[in-house]
Amino acid sequence: MGGFVITGVPDRQTKFEGKITFYLVICAVIAATGGLMFGYDIGISGGVTSMDGFLLKFFPSVYYKKKHAKEDNYCKYDDHKLQLFTSSLYLAALVSCFFASAMCQRFGRKITIQISSVFFFIGVILNVRAGDLHMLIAGRILLGIGVGFANQAVPLFLSEIAPFHIRGGLNILFQLNITIGILVANIVNYYASKVPLNGWKFSLGLAGVPALILCIGSFLITETPTSLIQHGRSADGLEVLKRIRGTHNVEAEFQEILQASEAASLVERPFMSIFHRSSFPQLVIGSLLQFFQQFTGINAIMFYAPVLFEAIGFKSNASLLSSVTIGIVNLIGSVISLLAVDKVGRKLLLLEGCLQMFLSMAAIGAVLVTNGQQNQPLDNDSAMGVVMFAALFVSGFAWSWGPLAWLIPSEIFPLETRTAGYAVAVSSNMLFTFVIAQIYLSMLCRMRAGVFFFFSMWIAIMGIFVAVFLPETKNIPMDEMVARVWKKHWYWKRYMDDGSRSLKMEALYDAYSY
Ligand code: BGC
Repeated sequence: MGGFVITGVPDRQTKFEGKITFYLVICAVIAATGGLMFGYDIGISGGVTSMDGFLLKFFPSVYYKKKHAKEDNYCKYDDHKLQLFTSSLYLAALVSCFFASAMCQRFGRKITIQISSVFFFIGVILNVRAGDLHMLIAGRILLGIGVGFANQAVPLFLSEIAPFHIRGGLNILFQLNITIGILVANIVNYYASKVPLNGWKFSLGLAGVPALILCIGSFLITETPTSLIQHGRSADGLEVLKRIRGTHNVEAEFQEILQASEAASLVERPFMSIFHRSSFPQLVIGSLLQFFQQFTGINAIMFYAPVLFEAIGFKSNASLLSSVTIGIVNLIGSVISLLAVDKVGRKLLLLEGCLQMFLSMAAIGAVLVTNGQQNQPLDNDSAMGVVMFAALFVSGFAWSWGPLAWLIPSEIFPLETRTAGYAVAVSSNMLFTFVIAQIYLSMLCRMRAGVFFFFSMWIAIMGIFVAVFLPETKNIPMDEMVARVWKKHWYWKRYMDDGSRSLKMEALYDAYSY
């Protein structure tokens, strides 16, 4: 192993020199706007699907039901085609992130980000010009491809350019943009809903703005040093590393990426190696975090906040205003996470988030059980109670499971399985987002308040999982994860020595196992 030991391992903080340079910040801020596209979409769907003009044009039966039937509050929006409008995007994203992963692997992170904005932009044009439901759904599918490409490439990009001691914070810029996107969308919906008949075009059309920002801005960003080095452009990688770290003293970090890249190049079929036993821990954690993130019930609130608040008796405008309030709480929560994550660590935030979300989801359920009657709006106090607990729930999510479900999978895989492994995580997120988007309104209709207890049960389960199985990854350079996290973890270490890695690869990994 001696031949592979790198220089200066013990004093990592000083060996890995690096300032937070202006160029680093510019690259991170621009790339993170990929999150705006995703967030805008999450925030816009619920409001649009409760606009009369939109329903009248594409879903007249739902419009009729909403206007005329003296129907159960919980069920008036339960329509599969309407749910398909929201969820088709996630199906497309689910598939496209695998193509995006191949693209990241072969051509790099930057070009994948650029392509995402182009797909998204074309999707927006189709949506605005949609004359019928088919064209509308086709537009949603293109938006979904854009989201799949961005969600695959942006968090990886951010984690790879970040100095390790602020990696969490830098990566959370992605989630911060998601929350800004959701908030802006809620505000746009609020005003668009006042425009009779064509307000929905306004809401869907403005989605083009974040795509344009990303597309134009992306010409200013760099390719990540890791990706350059992996593609044999070591000299360029070294230059970029010097530029984003603001120092010439990047030798230790450069060597580490070089070794990770050498180890990765020893793998003959990188895509297949995610099926090796030694990839199992990262794969399980990457996908389970996404499953859990969605089964917190966050999108029951995000997609359907206006619909939900209307269902419990708010008037249309009041319900959009309540979701704006929730959007602000969501944004503030992610700023807190950005500042805290590299200090308090990932596990503590996730556990605190679980406790807070568990209590608030159960409280929403309790208010609805005790006060909600099928055809009656909630009284004022109870309705305010629901909004307050929803805000408490969202803040807990915003500094924990929201950002960390994107951050952790982007940092735990070794280079050879990073893009493929991350694609599995992204597609799991999209799959479970799709599932929730598709079934939530039916669940609300059938389970009523019980749906909130259902989510609290999952929140309790995920808390236990984190406490027992999730390793802490704060302050560990990405290329040292195998040696310092996985090979040391009380449970996951048993998966590490599966014989799938050559002696040379093991040695390259173990160079960091101090
Ligand atoms: C999740 C979305 C969610 C959003 C809320 C993201 O991390 O992936 O599904 O709607 O956070 O802020």
